[in-house]
Amino acid sequence: MLFEIYRFNPETDSKPHMQRVELDIDPAGKMLLDAILLLKQQDETLSVRYSCREGVCGSDALNVNGQNRLACITPLPELSEPVQLRPLPGLPVIRDLVVDMAPFFRQYEAVKPYLLNHDPQPEIERLQTPEQRDQLDGLYECILCGACTSSCPSFWWHPERFLGPAALLQAYRFIADSRDQAGEERLSYLEDPYRLYRCHSILNCTASCPKGLNPHAAIARTKQLLIKRKL
Ligand code: SF4
Ligand code: FES
Repeated sequence: MLFEIYRFNPETDSKPHMQRVELDIDPAGKMLLDAILLLKQQDETLSVRYSCREGVCGSDALNVNGQNRLACITPLPELSEPVQLRPLPGLPVIRDLVVDMAPFFRQYEAVKPYLLNHDPQPEIERLQTPEQRDQLDGLYECILCGACTSSCPSFWWHPERFLGPAALLQAYRFIADSRDQAGEERLSYLEDPYRLYRCHSILNCTASCPKGLNPHAAIARTKQLLIKRKL
């Protein structure tokens, strides 16, 4: 199979370039990450990031033929050649296919992605009804891979001011949680021309999520709540 790989080593290169590489591999039954690891065996200088190999850790998100995907759950036979591999867009490149996720995690931390509840700790757990628990479906499954946020033009243009779809999905995840008591505080933080309202419903986020989540729907529900509390 033919690959074109983004290469950039800031210690030796003045600018990035695409490297064409032929790999002797039978794609049947293999995932893209299998091929990338063989490419790395061929050339040990290739930098990649991965861990679980099961679509759980979110560390091997990259741009494949123009779309953000997780390498470990992308079937190799699906890909047209040359397979173009680039780092996630909109984030600083550390080297080759590895980006600096710090701007992404700064936005995640900003939404306080944990339960805020000032009641005394219960002896065992904070209970929810099945209906309350259902409200979290489609939200809690996020693996923080960054595929959505890094595909979002609003994030590219305002990475420090717009929170991006992943952080906004997480913000809504806690607003929707019956055990959380900071809904009003969370909504007030989000009511800002940049943090939330720079989402222009471009929908790249939902198209890119390898877990099938819909960050745009979470953003839309947050906007509805903000409208409702003004009425
Ligand atoms: S919403 Fe989907 S694409 Fe975005 S960080 Fe979570 S798992 Fe990744
Ligand atoms: S290696 Fe963990 S999600 Fe792909």
